[in-house]
Amino acid sequence: MVHVDHEEIRRRAEAEGQGHLFNLVETLDDSTAQSFYSDLAALDWDLLERLKKQMHSKEEGGAQKLSPAPSVKKGGSRDAAASTRGEELLAAGKVAAFIVAGGQGSRLGFDGPKGMFPASPVRGRTLFQLFGAKIAALHDRYPKKMPWYVMTSRSNHEATLRYFEEQDWFGLGEENVRLFSQDMLPAMDSSGRLLLEAPGKLFLSPNGHGGSLLALKTSGALKEMVDRGIEQIFYFQVDNPLAVIADPVFLGHHDLAGAEMSTKVVAKRDAAEKVGVVGLVGGKYGVIEYSDLSEAELNATDANGDLRFKDGNIAVHMLRRDFVENLTAKGFDLPYHVAKKNIPDIDPATGESRLTAGVKFETFVFDALAHCQKSIVLEVDRAFEFAPIKNSEGEDSPQSSRAAQITMFQRWLADCDKVVPCDGCGKPEIAIDIDPRFADSAAALAARDLETLDLGGDLVLE
Ligand code: UD1
Repeated sequence: MVHVDHEEIRRRAEAEGQGHLFNLVETLDDSTAQSFYSDLAALDWDLLERLKKQMHSKEEGGAQKLSPAPSVKKGGSRDAAASTRGEELLAAGKVAAFIVAGGQGSRLGFDGPKGMFPASPVRGRTLFQLFGAKIAALHDRYPKKMPWYVMTSRSNHEATLRYFEEQDWFGLGEENVRLFSQDMLPAMDSSGRLLLEAPGKLFLSPNGHGGSLLALKTSGALKEMVDRGIEQIFYFQVDNPLAVIADPVFLGHHDLAGAEMSTKVVAKRDAAEKVGVVGLVGGKYGVIEYSDLSEAELNATDANGDLRFKDGNIAVHMLRRDFVENLTAKGFDLPYHVAKKNIPDIDPATGESRLTAGVKFETFVFDALAHCQKSIVLEVDRAFEFAPIKNSEGEDSPQSSRAAQITMFQRWLADCDKVVPCDGCGKPEIAIDIDPRFADSAAALAARDLETLDLGGDLVLE
């Protein structure tokens, strides 16, 4: 362990108005005290001062600055050229997959890394198994093996790593998978006092998925990408089992346009859907969270009666590797967003558990769009690309996602002239589960021998 001068650290913290942190320090055992002082030594006091000021300054709402942005619709005449370009990059091994899986998944109420949640309809394949299988399918298709970078956070790193080991790296080869953790930031109460989770333990939370860009650098992943000849990074979230990993059409549009960072969107289901919207902010592409849009903005319509802000962010991006390098070369300047939360901490005087009205700070990856000279937005059909698992029930839940997966498989099968029995509303009457290694698209399914398919009951193809 690096030697840290306890007295020096304590003086600094006290000078910063954080003396309350030391009330219980005499009660700590040696190893807790060591790790406490190490955590304190790692704090960036200048950043904390900035965050404190930001918490008190009135936050600028982005909504009034937002205007609808141009997008390209998937399925158009330029897709063929884009797909060819994307396939060339994939065949040449110039693309990496990058998943952000450091979030705490509290809305779903699942105990463990969210990627271990059983997501597929019949087999209950976990999110990580599905993504691993999708990348394995790409390994089978292209001569060069695509690496998979996985960002975790301190709270789920060990469990995620154990799972990847248990799963034998999903057959991708350990050398093609790399896990690393994002940074953590301390939470504060409303007067800027840092909070304790337990005696000798700061209350820390992940620094938001914007932290993934910095973590790519600090973990050495960017450097490794240079060595492997990677030029493009496909970014996706852990919660969407329909994510089309390294979609050649998206990759091609992005690359042919010379874009630095690009985004996929879907038409919003309705005004209330809880997705960020993509638009132009000060002439640049940007994403505004639904929570930052007013009711009027959410419901605004254009001359055709369509939602004015209809482009829902599905959090799938292409990022040029050199863009991430430049962005992180001199530190990191994505803005911090303030999230007000009731934080389960301890009273620093007595050690008793309590709930404190405090704030957490996060950066968002899509704020990097403001640093792009060139960017494209590709609108895709949600039926084939977006069925996230976020809530324990209702919309964007395990049930809604499984139903969407089954409907997508039914449509793939229909393309292969295989008719799945449906009820009067067109809803499949059987459950269907297709392993991505068997087929990861309608085209891949069409290349399989489906002669003897039995659609009389639940169907599993693997
Ligand atoms: C996010 C987007 C929203 C988009 C929606 C699409 C934000 C702020 N909003 O909302 O615009 O429409 O997805 O599904 O992101 N994560 C980390 N580290 C962190 C925080 C999050 O890795 O510190 C990861 C999570 O593991 C998850 C992803 O980022 O994979 C999304 O995080 P979450 O906070 O759940 O965002 P949403 O509210 O779902």
